Amino acid sequence: MTKVAVIVGSLKKTSLNRKFALALAKLARPKLELKVVEIGDLPFFSEDLEGQLPASVVRFKSELEGSDAVLFVTPEYLRAIPGVLKNALEWGARPYGKNSWGGKPGAVAGVTPGAIGTAVAQSQLRSIAPVLDIALISQPELYLSLKPGQIAEDGEIADEALKSLLATFVDRFSAWIARLEQKPALQF
Ligand code: FNR
Repeated sequence: MTKVAVIVGSLKKTSLNRKFALALAKLARPKLELKVVEIGDLPFFSEDLEGQLPASVVRFKSELEGSDAVLFVTPEYLRAIPGVLKNALEWGARPYGKNSWGGKPGAVAGVTPGAIGTAVAQSQLRSIAPVLDIALISQPELYLSLKPGQIAEDGEIADEALKSLLATFVDRFSAWIARLEQKPALQF
């Protein structure tokens, strides 16, 4: 099965974005195997740590490299991507010559209880992705203002319109991954 590394941009235990990512993982099977790759144990990025990579970084980079694609599911903080997500992007890209994101197909989604559906954060992520050599799918865009009850307690998508949008997303993303045969990462 096609393996997708899911990076959740929130460390909150009750994160809506994590809840959404797990619900999407259920919906996506068996077309895609979505697995959350944890970022909460990564240290703050510093070039000083690059000589002897911390165990959490080695684990993180190896999980990325073992996946066929990446999916970012992130909240928006202060009209930007959360610092923990930026930190993970940096670790994935480094040390020089060891870019673990490179050559992968990708997608972005984001959930908020508010109105603008993480659009600004996603736009930022879309401007960073080319530097990482990630090829992001354009459509359908997933700017999600989640209302209570749209995801049921058992993790099923309860809202039919949302379910239908997500089914289209899974189809399109699967086709995108299949189309973009993975290329060796370009190093920078
Ligand atoms: C937010 N939130 C928020 N929402 C938004 O739509 N645009 C924004 O710029 C911000 N800024 C922001 C900053 C900080 C520091 C926090 C803690 C929150 C609200 C945010 O969307 C909400 O808390 C979500 O529930 C966060 O996602 P998780 O953690 O539930 O996945």
